[in-house]
Amino acid sequence: MLLDDALAGAGLVSRFDGPIVDVGAGGGTPGIPLAASFPERRVTLLEAERRKCEFLERWTSELPNLEVVWGRAEEQPLEAYGVAVAKALAQPPTAAEWCLPLVRDGGAVVLWIGPSAERDRVERVAARLAGELVDAPDGFLVIRKTGPTPPGFPRRTGMAKKRPLA
Ligand SMILES: C[S@@+](CC[C@H](N)C(=O)[O-])C[C@H]1O[C@@H](n2cnc3c(N)ncnc32)[C@H](O)[C@@H]1O
Repeated sequence: MLLDDALAGAGLVSRFDGPIVDVGAGGGTPGIPLAASFPERRVTLLEAERRKCEFLERWTSELPNLEVVWGRAEEQPLEAYGVAVAKALAQPPTAAEWCLPLVRDGGAVVLWIGPSAERDRVERVAARLAGELVDAPDGFLVIRKTGPTPPGFPRRTGMAKKRPLA
């Protein structure tokens, strides 16, 4: 079930080139199933909690294209990835603000969302961060990056959650 859910986004991810980052990978979904699906693409599991990273590290011997980074999204190098994916990372406006700076111009953020996600709020956040929502099936939001990350982003750690942009 978890695997099906993770793989449901694989088709969306495949529309965009380049390395993939799973932001807030937690137990490894959707990043690990994506790494298994796309063995030719580098997949980074980015996770803020060290103990979770230690667990995730075990998977790197099974999947040579997988790496684990312990850290927060707001503190990573900008625009290092083609695609950022996130599932249950935070409320979608916060998740969008954390993920968009990680993605280069022409890349995309793919968010796994629940039925209560407010698309218009995410649209407003995306517009502040050189992103635009594109069509996606139920259960997902896809935000294409249409330019460089504007100055002032990422905001300092914690701000996107404490004071969402929309
Ligand atoms: C609810 S879990 C979801 C895990 C997994 N994606 C899933 O769907 O099962 C959210 C994870 O995001 C991590 N996290 C929260 N804020 C983060 C941030 N700013 N940067 C990186 N990881 C973060 C948390 O430590 C937690 O492991």
